[in-house]
Amino acid sequence: MKILIKKTYEELNKEAAKIVKEAIQAKPNLVLGLATGGTPLGCYQELIQIHKAGKLDFSKVAIFNLDEYLGLSTDHPQSYNYFMYENLLDYININRENFHIPDGMTKNIEKFCQEYEEKIQKAGGIDLQLLGIGRDGHVGFNEPGTPLDSRTQLVKLAESTIKDNSRFFERKEDVPRFAITLGVQTIFEAKKILLLASGENKADAVAKFIEGPITPQITASILQKHPDTIVILDEAAALKLKGKY
Ligand code: PGA
Repeated sequence: MKILIKKTYEELNKEAAKIVKEAIQAKPNLVLGLATGGTPLGCYQELIQIHKAGKLDFSKVAIFNLDEYLGLSTDHPQSYNYFMYENLLDYININRENFHIPDGMTKNIEKFCQEYEEKIQKAGGIDLQLLGIGRDGHVGFNEPGTPLDSRTQLVKLAESTIKDNSRFFERKEDVPRFAITLGVQTIFEAKKILLLASGENKADAVAKFIEGPITPQITASILQKHPDTIVILDEAAALKLKGKY
């Protein structure tokens, strides 16, 4: 893993957006894996600005999102589908047919998950996967204890995740308890991975996944074995690292 430490969240976003931009410029039909949550928002803002300045064409890009809450329809304001349109897709020239996200309302979860995996395969696999990390070390919604060889599946959210994500909902009780997420192994198969973490509340998880053992208790730790992962941190998220980077 290559670790980059930036002074601020703003600098982190600029660097992340530059990497995404260069990947799309090198391969206009890039298969991009995207994430939701607070962390990637700044990077999405940067990408929108670059697009508006006429420097980035998304028309051939395919997007596969990491996860979706079970039971939230696509037009639910807290659904990740809604999030993606609100924070990125409505502002870039993505072909809507090329945007994919797990269906939180699917009637047949197992079949849906298998088909989602097949769609990714058919697209040629994910070229660049953007990730955040949970305070419990999760990637996607792969909570502690998820097998490292897992594929896209239904998962139960950890209490700490429900608490963290309740900031997006009116009440904590409104946060769905289950979600569909790309598996750890599915994420690991992305050709290139870009993980972003910002803020002191991520410092523990960051130190564990970079410097601790590879374990299902910290699903991000599998990235230590990935051949092309870049981690971009701000100084606050890097606070508990012991090594020099
Ligand atoms: P956050 O979530 O970006 O909202 O902190 C990250 C995650 O849970 O993976």
